[in-house]
Amino acid sequence: MNVSDILQPVIENPNMPPYEEARANFDWKDVEKAFTWHETGKVNMAYEAIDRHADTWRKNKVALYYSDQKRDEKYTFQEMKYLSNRFGNVLRNIGIEKGDRVFLFMPRSPEVYVSVMGILKVGAVVGPLFEAFMEQAVRDRLENSEAVAIVTTPALLPRVPYKDLPHLKHIILVGDEVPENDEHANFYNFEEEMANASEQLEIEWVEREDPMILHYTSGSTGKPKGVLHVHNAMIQHYQTAKWILDLKDEDIFWCTADPGWVTGTSYGIFGPWLNGATSVIRGGRFSPEDWYSTIEKYKVTIWYSAPTAFRRLMAAGDDIINNYDLSSLRHILSVGEPLNAEVVHWGKKVYGLNIHDNWWMTETGGILIANYPSMPLKPGSMGRPFPGIEVAILDENGNELPRGQMGSLCIKTDWPSMMRKIWKNEEKFKEYFAIPGWYISGDLASMDEDGYVWFGGRDDDVIMTSGERVGPFEIESKLVEHPAVAEAAVIGKPDEVRGEIIKAFVALKDGYTESDELNEDLRRHVKEGLAAHAVPREIEVKDSLPKTRSGKIMRRVLKAWELGLPTGDLSTMED
Ligand code: WT7
Repeated sequence: MNVSDILQPVIENPNMPPYEEARANFDWKDVEKAFTWHETGKVNMAYEAIDRHADTWRKNKVALYYSDQKRDEKYTFQEMKYLSNRFGNVLRNIGIEKGDRVFLFMPRSPEVYVSVMGILKVGAVVGPLFEAFMEQAVRDRLENSEAVAIVTTPALLPRVPYKDLPHLKHIILVGDEVPENDEHANFYNFEEEMANASEQLEIEWVEREDPMILHYTSGSTGKPKGVLHVHNAMIQHYQTAKWILDLKDEDIFWCTADPGWVTGTSYGIFGPWLNGATSVIRGGRFSPEDWYSTIEKYKVTIWYSAPTAFRRLMAAGDDIINNYDLSSLRHILSVGEPLNAEVVHWGKKVYGLNIHDNWWMTETGGILIANYPSMPLKPGSMGRPFPGIEVAILDENGNELPRGQMGSLCIKTDWPSMMRKIWKNEEKFKEYFAIPGWYISGDLASMDEDGYVWFGGRDDDVIMTSGERVGPFEIESKLVEHPAVAEAAVIGKPDEVRGEIIKAFVALKDGYTESDELNEDLRRHVKEGLAAHAVPREIEVKDSLPKTRSGKIMRRVLKAWELGLPTGDLSTMED
């Protein structure tokens, strides 16, 4: 670590007190005073995020700017309040009750944000799905959660296998083509139901520990896991958004993440609105021109994105930046994968700002480690633990490792936004807490003398590609469903732009031979069955795959072979 590499803070008047001071005096209990339930005892995330502001001077403040290729709209806090009231009534009218899981499966649009708040207002649980999911991915999640309703679009409806899902009774479609009801489900038109619903709603007050949102995420084995967060998470969303995103009333905040992923809900919805901030949502696909013009158009001041996006912007070249007025920007943040020091230096050069990396996971519900706006930044480091958060680097026996040594990144339990369960999988949930008193993240990291944390990789086989977390098992399962495939193993392979790319090794069944057509067909099969981002960029056919004696495919051996690294202990490998 070169000292000249330390970047001094460029934010002069941060919301946040100096780090050491904040840490010394911090108590999550004090944060509770920011909420009305501190006095009333009545809790609801949607009330704190929307209605509370609609009853103050913020009522005509813009809560949401939304645009895509076709739409260009804005919504005040008051408009969001009444729209989400309407949607809450739509849900009540069809019989949705507290605790029911209501899923969202559609591209980013204002309707997504209205729906999230409406679902929460009736005490139901939000289940976000990424719009690129194909049938199997949708099926797994709706089946496991026993979802009773889904909000989707006519275009995505074919990927919702409602006839095979006995719990899924209600399908609300944003768009015109609404099928006739059948014995499996009732269909509703979003616009029509909204128009007929009352604007007045009695909010369902819930307990702080009542379920709020269920995000599915991939592990290295098994089906996707349903990570459950409760209303109490608002304490963390609020405080981390205030201090780390440095949100103030005059800010225009843009979180580029899709609400199908946790960043797009914790910081694309809850964090900013709990702080009464204005959020920008841009629909459609990534392009450097589109992104820079979004910053220019809305005069975005705070921009929260991901390393893969910054690397793509870097690859697009510095010249294009001169075509846009980005002078409104005052704070930039990144999450999801390692943010290379090189990218931080580039960001400083072209935007004149430090890009602040921070670390968390679907399971943690909110940011736990961060580069504070008011703190010197070490490019390449994820920053320091948030006040109130205890981080340790442990060995496999739960002993703390010396500074500088790489080990398992663990967090002292618990914190307000910690997951409360893995849906219907107590076993998996317990694995995270196998070291008493600690949450085991599954990441490897080290901590330096100054308490800055450095990322070292995943401790398991989970792949991070373009900022999305994919489980090799899901892709392998899909591949072996293909008639030509006998066995499959999937690894992440380092890639300059995407962090990792997906590489699949397959052994073919008798009668099939390797060909470009077959590879194409396998890709199509994964794309149609799972999602475009799960498609292996590289496919290699092998006669057989390395396995343990118990028949488990050894991904780490394939990875070592692929990267030309030592294979390590092969004692469990079959001959
Ligand atoms: C995994 C969690 C909630 C953030 C979005 C991803 C990796 C996250 C960083 C970072 C290096 C990071 C970890 C983590 N990760 N942030 N700043 N530097 N790696 O959430 O899909 O639950 O993935 O993302 O490996 O375990 P997720």
